[in-house]
Amino acid sequence: MQDYREFLAEVLIPADRLQQRIQELGAEISRDYEGQDLMLICILRGGVMFLTDLMRAITVPHTVDFMAISSYGAGVRQTSGQVRISLDLSSSVEGRNVMLVEDIIDSGHTIASVLELLSARRPQSLKVCTLLDKAERREAHVPIDYYGFVIPNKFVFGYGLDLDEYYRNLPFIGVVQAEKFLHTT
Ligand code: IMP
Ligand code: MG
Repeated sequence: MQDYREFLAEVLIPADRLQQRIQELGAEISRDYEGQDLMLICILRGGVMFLTDLMRAITVPHTVDFMAISSYGAGVRQTSGQVRISLDLSSSVEGRNVMLVEDIIDSGHTIASVLELLSARRPQSLKVCTLLDKAERREAHVPIDYYGFVIPNKFVFGYGLDLDEYYRNLPFIGVVQAEKFLHTT
């Protein structure tokens, strides 16, 4: 795999702005959940970087769990709305205050399906925290309770988000130089 710079059009959100915003989100969540139990659920794999920084910024006691999903009948860069759980949670959400921690909400179909699946398991409350919100692409109605940044309709990578599974480790969010990346796939 080539160096990420081959595909980077621009840095959209530098590392220090990500970290600063995550501190703010952590403080807000800590205020809102003061005295309450909290369970964070990370959807693998894109949400991992955000989860680990966010949980360090949250001061109320909480647990974390992970799930992975795969979508049906869609290409790599779009989802159809139909999702299947490929790795389920290891703990019960029943009666818990659950918060889904996502990297990015695009069409909204993925998170809408996950919300539907989880609400059937009777959590006490169910909220959504996403680092990035590609708002103009929204097709499904999704209530977003906490978000880091609203971003334009561009394909981004880094900080958990991948380009064909690579470059999730970058500490910033970058915009893909589309022509270059499409030639390799
Ligand atoms: P949605 O169902 O359209 O909201 O798709 C959400 C999923 O698509 C995210 O969890 C990402 O895995 C992926 N995705 C959407 N936009 C981007 C992007 O710009 N970069 C990387 N992954 C993306
Ligand atoms: Mg994802």
